[in-house]
Amino acid sequence: MAAVNRPEQLIESVIAIATEAGQKIKAIFHQGDFEQTIKLDSTPVTSADLAAHQVICERLMSLTPDIPVLSEEDAEIPLSIRESWQRYWLVDPLDGTGEFIAGSNDFSVLIALVDNHQPVLGVVYVPMTQECYFASLGNGAYKRSQGEDFPIHCRSGYEQNESALKLAVSRRQDPNTVLNMFNKKQDYELVRLGGAALKSCLVAEGQADCYIRIGPTGEWDTAAAQVIIKEAGGQVMTTDLQPLTYNRRETLENPNFIVVGQSTRNWKDLLKAAS
Ligand code: IPD
Ligand code: CA
Ligand code: CA
Repeated sequence: MAAVNRPEQLIESVIAIATEAGQKIKAIFHQGDFEQTIKLDSTPVTSADLAAHQVICERLMSLTPDIPVLSEEDAEIPLSIRESWQRYWLVDPLDGTGEFIAGSNDFSVLIALVDNHQPVLGVVYVPMTQECYFASLGNGAYKRSQGEDFPIHCRSGYEQNESALKLAVSRRQDPNTVLNMFNKKQDYELVRLGGAALKSCLVAEGQADCYIRIGPTGEWDTAAAQVIIKEAGGQVMTTDLQPLTYNRRETLENPNFIVVGQSTRNWKDLLKAAS
């Protein structure tokens, strides 16, 4: 069993697990003959989601047998059990199932370690590019591409003030839904991408300044990217600008949230002026 007092020591093992799951997803993507059903929450799930779920759960339970695993594909665990968890793995085996089904490359594997209601380690693996974003608290955020690790940072306040504010927006959403939430005095540029975590990673690597998500998401959608954002200099908050928290409620549904690359900017005014 691996040591967990220092989560950063687990990073390489977690990247290896996310990579293995991502390779399974990619193989199914290329075969193209996956099964697809609709879950009770009306969202789709495929045989690729379930294959990734299975391998991630098996590998995490073998890596740290004492740490429970909460995956989107096996999330019916009541708070009466979860509330005794100091630490747990929080997993979205395939974020961007809709993109996967549509044949787009914008999907990823998300694994986070949550400790005392806050994510402390996060890995976002992108199967189609074989790139990976990762971070653990206090150790910076990185992107691994072609075997090399590059530190990543959100765009600075100076860069944000000097140009249009870059908003990460879903490929499959009317961009006006997002634009209408912001102060019209500011100029905006849209950066279109699928998948909740990948849009957060765009903010972490300075390709976008903000990603706002109105509508249902699960705690597994935000945890891994939240560590990466934080270590890159940004923040994930509710749209009331309160911190997001984990494993405190019976529901695992997140409130509406905003991912920002510059915590000190006056986001309240930027959002409030639109209402
Ligand atoms: C969804 C995707 C989607 C986002 C949804 C998520 P799933 O996750 O990230 O882009 O808009 O809010 O629930 O169902 O593909 O894991
Ligand atoms: Ca998801
Ligand atoms: Ca998912």
